[in-house]
Amino acid sequence: MDTKDLNIESLIEMNELLLSILDEIDVGIHVVNEKGETIIYNKRMMEIESMDSKDVLHKDLLDVFSFEKNQSSTLLEALRAGKVRKNIKQTYFNNKGKEITTINNTFPIKKNGTINGAVEIVEDITQLKKHIQTRVLQKQNSRYNFDNIIGDSEAMLSIIEESKKATRTPSSILIVGETGTGKEVFAQSIHNESGRANKPFISQNCAAIPESLMESILFGTKKGAFTGAMDKPGLFEEANGGTLLLDELNSLSPALQAKLLRVIQEKKIRRIGDIREIEIDVRIIATTNEDPIEAIANNRLRKDLYYRLSVVTLFLPTLRERREDILLLAYHFIGKYNRLFDMRVTDMDNSVKEVLHNHDWPGNVRELEHAIEGAMNLMEDERIMRVDHLPALLYRKVKHKAEQVPTAVHMDEDINQEDTSHTLKQLKYKIKETEEYYIKQALEESKGNIAQAAKALGMSRQSLQYRLRKYQI
Ligand SMILES: Nc1ncnc2c1ncn2[C@@H]1O[C@H](COP(=O)(O)OP(=O)(O)OP(=O)(O)O)[C@@H](O)[C@H]1O
Ligand SMILES: [Mg+2]
Repeated sequence: MDTKDLNIESLIEMNELLLSILDEIDVGIHVVNEKGETIIYNKRMMEIESMDSKDVLHKDLLDVFSFEKNQSSTLLEALRAGKVRKNIKQTYFNNKGKEITTINNTFPIKKNGTINGAVEIVEDITQLKKHIQTRVLQKQNSRYNFDNIIGDSEAMLSIIEESKKATRTPSSILIVGETGTGKEVFAQSIHNESGRANKPFISQNCAAIPESLMESILFGTKKGAFTGAMDKPGLFEEANGGTLLLDELNSLSPALQAKLLRVIQEKKIRRIGDIREIEIDVRIIATTNEDPIEAIANNRLRKDLYYRLSVVTLFLPTLRERREDILLLAYHFIGKYNRLFDMRVTDMDNSVKEVLHNHDWPGNVRELEHAIEGAMNLMEDERIMRVDHLPALLYRKVKHKAEQVPTAVHMDEDINQEDTSHTLKQLKYKIKETEEYYIKQALEESKGNIAQAAKALGMSRQSLQYRLRKYQI
């Protein structure tokens, strides 16, 4: 074999390697040649567009996909006009008529000054869009009221009292609290006990949506404002007369925060691309899981917006600051899952109580609820919850503490004797719990910065985002 052969072989190998890497990536990648024919189409792209690569590869893009009138393919724009486009939302259809919505980054490939192809890197937001739509559809369904808030501690009782007072006015509210402390529960309860109760309650997470989309979601659009824009009301209009919950306000860009401030002050909005002003009467409840003073210092919260919003500020206590509520909540959740799972769990044994009471609950009430739900998934006809029913993280704690105590050994034996499906179920839960825990920790340490947390966890940003969605963190 001469060197030339070797080179070709290593080129082929390199090519294969690159293609297999492309298939592992969690964003869609679509590359066309100078004729607009697809030459690279990775696995994620197949999922996003619900297509098989054989139906797309080596075909003219326009033979496979169709675009609405006035909308052209960003990929072809890059190819024909050499345009680099970032974070462009595009809605189009595959050859079976399925609607696809993506956020694209597109750029031309140039060689010696001429364009001989184009690359598109794609994130799928079809699901996200559906999610937003269902959120809006569910706007009347704010489920919680003060009766659902469990807690007997001093801290809880005083925050409930404060919140009840806030139901009498339309003033903006800022709710500050770690993840899982009940910010949503409080926001809904306030709405439902206010004069706005039979008007919409709409909640929108500011962190879940790319900035370019967020503005049109909040304020709406006028037809033709940008390619593909329709006459569409934003959430402010949808929530008119009611309450708009802006979750994770500290993730909203400073520019949008400024715009929000103007809207709150002027009580008017203008759809994007429109000159008409619409009067609105919406109560804003914003939440942040970060100390607002720190958020201001780190340029994640505008001071002027903070002053405007913090007319009423509710600081929700963490669960570890009100340990006396832990068992009360645990019994409440046992009751809830008894109903949901049609089970008859009556109590927890003492070691369970001790573990629950002593754990630090970084995920607060949500973590506690998941612990109980997870435990009840592992129970069969037992009436009393044992420590080995608890999620791995809590269970391990006991094991560590009781390292030399014989009962710990018995517990392990118990697990070994259980049937395989039970053990598998248990394993699945434990993996989920553990993963969730580490993700939450990493996010806490990175103050919610996804890229940083992903790095700390040794996973890609995309796979972290996937897990956040999967576990609804
Ligand atoms: N005081 C409480 N009584 C009963 N259930 C509660 C209470 N606080 C929270 N929960 C339950 O805990 C879960 C998390 O609450 P919620 O969604 O309000 O938290 P959050 O503060 O909005 O968290 P995140 O910042 O992660 O969005 C929900 O399932 C809710 O029902
Ligand atoms: Mg929330």
